[in-house]
Amino acid sequence: MFPAHRPRRLRTTPAMRRLVSETSVRPRQLVLPMFVKEGAAAPVPISAMPGVVQHTRDSLRKAAVEAVEAGVGGLMLFGVPTTRDAVGSGATDPDGILNVALADLRAELGDSTVLMSDCCLDEFTDHGHCGVLTPTGEVDNDATLEIYGEMAVAQARAGAHLVGPSGMMDGQVGVIRKALDESGYADTGVLAYSVKYSSALYGPFREAVESQLRGDRKTYQQDPANAREALREVELDLAEGADLVMVKPALPYLDVLRAVREVADVPVAAYQISGEYAMVEAAARNGWIERERTVLETLTSIRRAGADVVLTYWAAEAARWLDRG
Ligand code: PBG
Repeated sequence: MFPAHRPRRLRTTPAMRRLVSETSVRPRQLVLPMFVKEGAAAPVPISAMPGVVQHTRDSLRKAAVEAVEAGVGGLMLFGVPTTRDAVGSGATDPDGILNVALADLRAELGDSTVLMSDCCLDEFTDHGHCGVLTPTGEVDNDATLEIYGEMAVAQARAGAHLVGPSGMMDGQVGVIRKALDESGYADTGVLAYSVKYSSALYGPFREAVESQLRGDRKTYQQDPANAREALREVELDLAEGADLVMVKPALPYLDVLRAVREVADVPVAAYQISGEYAMVEAAARNGWIERERTVLETLTSIRRAGADVVLTYWAAEAARWLDRG
């Protein structure tokens, strides 16, 4: 009898498909990135990210509570300051927007969720780079590290459970770990953006944080052509004390995510970034793809490739579609 094997038998009914499904997405695995804008009187829509806003401190608090009630596993916070300077002073200032908003959320939510903060200077510098510059305009790795250490301590003090260094400076995890330990924050963890590619898909995020960047980040973020150096970055971050490692962007780099999953003995996160969000929203708005099905398919794919945790702008909405547990 031909065919001898009929894989379709396992696809015959919804109950059968549910029984044999290999990968699940749960609200607790999703993290919602959120933006908070200094001095904003009302939430400001981000045109390239329909449905995402720059929050006021009040609207942030409310949206954060709603996301936690929907079951998301954590929140990742980004600040949008009103003034910027060459060294990103707003990042280390306890009264800087990111730090005050972290304190708001920690006061509101306590330990009921995992509060994370982007630990990077680009939102706070007037040139938009992730670090400070040398007199000739190059990003100065080691001078930046000192500021990252201070920034991490300010975020821990404000209430972050995990700080997320995303600037791709060499040695950033080690410096941050040491600074946290020396300041009495041994329990504050490091979610390392270990593998971060220089991607065109960060475009909408530039609007979200009103980035001042001209040019690109190719001297510090990775070349999309390279996979081996991703493993080296992970190895270094683990040696420096990373508690979780992250791959970013997500969908175009699922091969890298899988490779990282196979070598890392810590939880692996993936960041479905602004451009990934924008592409799906734009196509769905045109009626070209089904929005909810597409979102869930992308999240499932990222989980299947090996992510334990997924940062996604759909986290709260998707959490409402998904089974808890
Ligand atoms: C750096 C940072 C960026 C993102 C997260 N952290 C921007 C960049 O590296 O250019 C991008 C997130 C997204 O595009 O959704 N602070």
